[in-house]
Formats: sequence, C-alpha cells, structure tokens
Amino acid sequence: MSRLFDALQRSGVEQTGVEYPDTVSVATQVFEMPTKEEEAPSSSLPVFPSVEVSLEASSRVVVLTEPETLAAEKFRFLGVRMRQLQQTRPVKKVLVTSTIAEEGKSLVSANLACVLASRKRHRVLLIDGDLRRPVLADKFGLGRLSGLAEWLQGESQTVSNIYHLAEPDFWLMPAGHPPANPLELMQSGRLASLMAQVTNLFDWIIVDSPPLLPLADTSVWARLTDGALLVVREGIAEKDPLKRALESLKKADLLGVVLNGSSNGNHHNYYQRYAAARSSMKS
Ligand SMILES: Nc1ncnc2c1ncn2[C@@H]1O[C@H](COP(=O)(O)OP(=O)(O)O)[C@@H](O)[C@H]1O
Ligand SMILES: [Mg+2]
Repeated sequence: MSRLFDALQRSGVEQTGVEYPDTVSVATQVFEMPTKEEEAPSSSLPVFPSVEVSLEASSRVVVLTEPETLAAEKFRFLGVRMRQLQQTRPVKKVLVTSTIAEEGKSLVSANLACVLASRKRHRVLLIDGDLRRPVLADKFGLGRLSGLAEWLQGESQTVSNIYHLAEPDFWLMPAGHPPANPLELMQSGRLASLMAQVTNLFDWIIVDSPPLLPLADTSVWARLTDGALLVVREGIAEKDPLKRALESLKKADLLGVVLNGSSNGNHHNYYQRYAAARSSMKS
C-alpha cells in the first residue's frame, strides 16, 4: 500500500501542478497472462429502448470524439488490460472511483465503456452510480431519462431504465433524477437485486460512482462489484485523503490505478509513470 502511495505521490510531484486540459494519462496494473478463447454471454438480452447519442467535444469521450489522440490510445490500452484481467479471474463488475470529486471518474467510466464495447461480442453496461451528481446522460447528450434512482424507488422486480446506445453499441443505465435519500435507497436491497440481474445479462458492468470521501455510498457499491479502479487526478489528490481512500478500499479488490490529467502527454513520461504504478501494484 505504501509503495503504491509513494508512486502516486511521485507522479503528482512530476506534474508540478500544471494541467494541460486535453491530455488524459492512464496507468494500470499489468496482467501478462495468455488470453483464452472468448465466450459469448449465455443469457439472451431483453430489448431495451434505443436512444440517439449526441456528443460534443466538451464531453471528453475522447475515444469517440478524438480517436486518433494519445489520450484515446491510452484508453484503448486500459481496455486491453481489463480484458486480459478478465481472462485470469472472474471480474465483470468494475467500480470506478476516486478519493474526491472532479478527479475524472465519469470521464474514465465513459471512455472505458466505449473501448470495451468496441469488441463486438461483448455486451457492456455502464451504470451512473453517482446519484448525487450524475453526468453520464448529459455526457452522451441523452437529456432527462429515468434511471437507477427511479428503478430503486419503484416496485418492478425486472430490470428496466436501461438504454441501448446504438453507436458506440453499449447499454447505459443513467442515474435518473437525484433522489433526496440516495444512501438509504442504495441500502434498500433493491440495488443488490438489480446487480444480480445485470450480472447475468452483460459481460462488463462499469459503475461510475461518487468519491470515496466523505461519502458512504461507494462502500455500498464496493460490496456489489468485483473490484475497483481508482482514478487519481494529478495535482488534485492530496496525501492524507488519498491514504484514507486507499484504506477505505481495503476490503474491495483494487484492480488498478488510473492516473488522469498528465502534464506531459509524451510516451516516455507515460511509460515512466506506468512502470511506477506497475511495480507498486505488484507489492
Ligand atoms: N484529464 C483531463 N483533462 C481535462 N479535463 C478533465 C480531465 N479529466 C476530467 N476533466 C474534466 O473535469 C471535470 C470533472 O471530471 P469528471 O469525470 O466529471 O470527474 P468526477 O466524476 O470524478 O467528479 C469534467 O468537466 C471533465 O471533463
Ligand atoms: Mg462523476
């Protein structure tokens, strides 16, 4: 844990607090197992309504809006790593979280869902699990749609409020209208029932979540997912909160770390940071 923390701290120092707004740096654990033949999902998928995506550059879904950029390339690389991980262990439900707000959880979740969906036989569900500050429906230009909040408050036992985004071909469950009592709703037991159902329907379930501090919401998500990707935005996460966040994640399986917001988009710097995260994750 301390080596991971040191690596993260070093990368923050390297960055010297300057942010170039159009770069996204991604570093994750390395998994070097041989890949197996992919299996098609077993359950047939109910027909969920299709919605039209309308993306603006400000959405920063770079894998769709700027696929030629280094940032997009790094997200594709993250997708490859996640697929390799899935070949070695049963990981399907991935929590994307961070220490505090504004570190790029929603940006990472959206781009990750897109790159995983680019493998045609893979069914990917992206859930906006941040009931307090949802952004995913807006990011994809979908307007107001009923989502997780409405499903949790409803009575139907069958999963709904999921939409198919034809291009880039994945499914989204937006957060819906922010409820007054998000934590209570999440602890009601209906969330566990929802997750059990979608686990049978999809190959990947990416959960965009609230920050680990100061809320308890994410610990509920951590219990219902297979592991977490921790997003660390350079120059934002400070030492003590990051330490507390890592401790609060202790019970969840930490799958990797995504360093977001590089001061230097060149490959050399990227691989340096990548190596630091890699060695610390192995400890
Ligand atoms: N690497 C980056 N470069 C520039 N802007 C970024 C970067 N990462 C995130 N942002 C912007 O910062 C804001 C917060 O990102 P978001 O993904 O919503 O964070 P979170 O979900 O952790 O609160 C958004 O406007 C997003 O576009
Ligand atoms: Mg967010």
